[in-house]
Order: sequence, then C-alpha cells, then structure tokens
Amino acid sequence: MTATTARQPELKTALPGPNTKAIMERDAKHLSTSYMRPYPFVPDRGEGVWLTDVDGNTMLDFFAGIAVSTTGHAHPHVVQAVQAQIERFAHVCLTDYPQEITTSLAERLVRHVERTLPDGRHEKWRVFLGNSGAEAVEAAVKLARNHTGRSHIISTIGSFHGRTYGAITLTGSKTKYKRGFGPLLPNVSHVPYPNPFRPPLGSTAETCGQAVLNYLEDVLFQTVIPADEVAAIIVEPMQGEGGYIVPPADFLPGLRALCDRHGIMLIFDEVQAGMGRTGKMFSYQNFDGVQPDIITLAKGIASGLPISAMMAKESVMTWPVGSHGSTFGGNPVAAAAAHATLDLLEGAVKHPGCGDNLMDNARTVGDYILSELRDMQTEFPFLGDVRGQGLFIGLEFVKPDGSPDGKLRDAASMAMFERGLLNLDCGESVIRISPPLILTREDAETGLNIMRETLRSLQ
Ligand SMILES: Cc1ncc(COP(=O)(O)O)c(C=O)c1O
Repeated sequence: MTATTARQPELKTALPGPNTKAIMERDAKHLSTSYMRPYPFVPDRGEGVWLTDVDGNTMLDFFAGIAVSTTGHAHPHVVQAVQAQIERFAHVCLTDYPQEITTSLAERLVRHVERTLPDGRHEKWRVFLGNSGAEAVEAAVKLARNHTGRSHIISTIGSFHGRTYGAITLTGSKTKYKRGFGPLLPNVSHVPYPNPFRPPLGSTAETCGQAVLNYLEDVLFQTVIPADEVAAIIVEPMQGEGGYIVPPADFLPGLRALCDRHGIMLIFDEVQAGMGRTGKMFSYQNFDGVQPDIITLAKGIASGLPISAMMAKESVMTWPVGSHGSTFGGNPVAAAAAHATLDLLEGAVKHPGCGDNLMDNARTVGDYILSELRDMQTEFPFLGDVRGQGLFIGLEFVKPDGSPDGKLRDAASMAMFERGLLNLDCGESVIRISPPLILTREDAETGLNIMRETLRSLQ
C-alpha cells in the first residue's frame, strides 16, 4: 500500500445517515416490490467518479450504475451537449422524422464496425435506435427471425439480456427473473457459456470453448435442425451479469464458423461490455477477426441517458418499412449525450489525466487493477479468480473447497460500501468492478486500498 494524497471517500455520518434512512423508508412503501437494494445508498449528486449521498457522505463509484456512467457523473462535456439539445427540441419521433443528431450518431457508430472484406467490398451496417438494452435485444431477435424466416433462438446459461418477455426468455441467469412469469417465448434453447474458471461439460479452461461448440453440433442440433429452424445465436462476448467472464480465445471464432455453416445470425450482446469498457469500442474486438451479424448496445452509450442501438449488417437489415419502431427510441437529448460520450471515447475531447482517449484509459487502468488484484490473491486465498479486460473486472469469492462463496462475497460487498466504495455483485459469488472510464490510476489505487483493507477485515 502506498501513501497517497489522492481524494478519499468522506463519511460524515454513520451509514445509513438519517436522510438516507427516511428516503429508503418511503421508497420501500411506494415503489415496486421488485426493486433490489444491495445496501442503503441514496445519491444526491455526482462529480466524476464520486457520488455524494443525501447525508453528505461521498463515495468512490466502482460500478457506474451497472457499467452505464462511461464518462463519470455530470461530465461537463455531456452536460453541455444535453443542455444545448434540450433547448432546441426534446422530441419529434424518429419513427416519423429523420434528425441530423441521430443520423450522425448512426454514421458514427457504424464506423466502429464497418470493414473492407477480403474481396474488396465494403461491408455496410445500419442502426435501429431504442431506449434500453432489452429493447435492443427484442429488435435483434425480431430482425433475425424476419430476415431468416426461422424461429429458433439459442442463448447461453448465465446470460442476461433484459426483462421484457423475449429478453427474459433468452436470459439464462438466476431463476428469479423467470419464476411466475410464464409462458415465455417459444423456441428458445440455452447452452453452457465457456467459463474457463468453471469449465462446463467436463472440459478444461483450455478446451471449454470447443466443448460448447461440440455440444451445439453434437447434442442440440440432433433435435433442432440448424439450417431449417435456427434464426440466431445470441451471446455476450464477455458475460456480464453471469459473473464478468471472458471466454477462451477460440470460442467466438468457432461460433462464427458454426453460424456460417448453417446460415444462422450471430448476435453479440454488447450492452454491458461494450462502449469502450474493455479497452476496445466493442468487447468482441478483443478477439481477432470475429464479426457478428447483429450487435446490441445500451448502458454506457450515453453516460446515463437512456438510448440503445441494434446494429446489423446492411445485408441483414431487410425488414420492411413500418415493421419496427419506437415513440421515444433515439431520443435527440440522449443522442446528444451519446455524441459527447463518443467524443471522449474516441479522443476528440480529452479528459484530464486519462491519456489520449477513454478506451486507452480503460485498458491502462484496468491492467493496473487486474495486476494488483492478482497480487492480492496470494494474501487472500478466498479470491478464487480475478478476471476481465479493461475496466470490466470480476472478483470471484470461493470456499476452501473451491465452490462459490456467495455469503463471503455479500459480506465483502457490504463492508466495502461501509468504507465508501460503491460496488455491485454479479454471478453466484462475484463482485464486479465496472467504474466510469475516467477512473485515474490514483483513484483506482484508492479503491484498491479500500478493497485490501476490507478483505483483511474478513479474514
Ligand atoms: C448484456 C445485457 N443485455 C441486456 C441488458 C438489458 O438492458 P436494460 O436493463 O437496459 O434493458 C443488460 C442489463 O443488464 C445486459 O447486461
């Protein structure tokens, strides 16, 4: 641990403070019974990677509202873009009128996926803009079915794709998301996700990608005819809610080849891992040479304003006029925030202390956090696995026999919060580290020191 003059969390009251308590009580009375509350925190205002609660306690934000606040809280460049747009107009409905701000946003997004094919042709992409991740996923599934004329969709165990009917059907994590809501969408199958730390199907860390591909071909395709029935395979290139899992390098290329063999659309759900978080604009770009047919984006795209995108190859986006739309989708104020976010991600606007652009910063600071956490594994044997890419990092807690230790994870999460570090669980026994991409090495060190102190207190 190094001595530091960096900004530290400031806790002015015992937690929760009186104002937090009062709002939590009202919240519990009047809001939906479905909301989860991992610990008592009620934000009042934010600045960069810091959030201050309604009692004046300032916390370091290591989860960015589930990987959403890409540029931190109240980034001046984002605030200014939002203000400028809302003074012009807040809505006209993209389903009916084109708007320059959404046209240029689409042009800007596709630049990150379009490429020149080996035969010299330019592969063009198109964009449908919605409001949320689940909507992007619904649009992707509708498009895949409409384009292929097939109905079956394959997803993965441990995945999360959203809460609408199509999206929860595809979701393969926690049964509470589905219990009591059926019937769900028909013609959906789940296959294991290749988790190198807990390899499925009797495989190993090295062979788990191939094992899942073999399972598809040798087991699932014995009962579901791939070239007749399967419209799409949807997969998170790095699994988020399931535990911040990075698959082995051969998995996505193998999946691409399998989809090509059977004419299946490959959908990459980049809602959580996309938008620069892994050090590349899209997480799949960490795997050489893989290109999906459809991409879903949301969360980090506009630093907290609600907008999502379903992007597809032009050759795939063949649904007819009027077949899909949304009243609010592609809202111009949210689109302005997305432009401002892209300015910082691409480096047209620099953030002090974060190098050339926020993608580079995510990679550099992420590498630093990963290496520090891996060092901590020697001191804390219950840290079974430290994994991730960029600022998409998972910390898995295990019992001495190696099985997941959800209880210890929950205790660690609460104890970190009590020391002023906002964090969030995922998977069975994982804490996810998904801070704003403006996190500096200094602030990262502050967070790591809190984690180290907390873990010592749990021994
Ligand atoms: C990979 C993934 N897809 C889709 C979604 C759904 O997004 P939303 O909550 O915006 O509907 C999520 C949300 O956590 C996600 O992580």
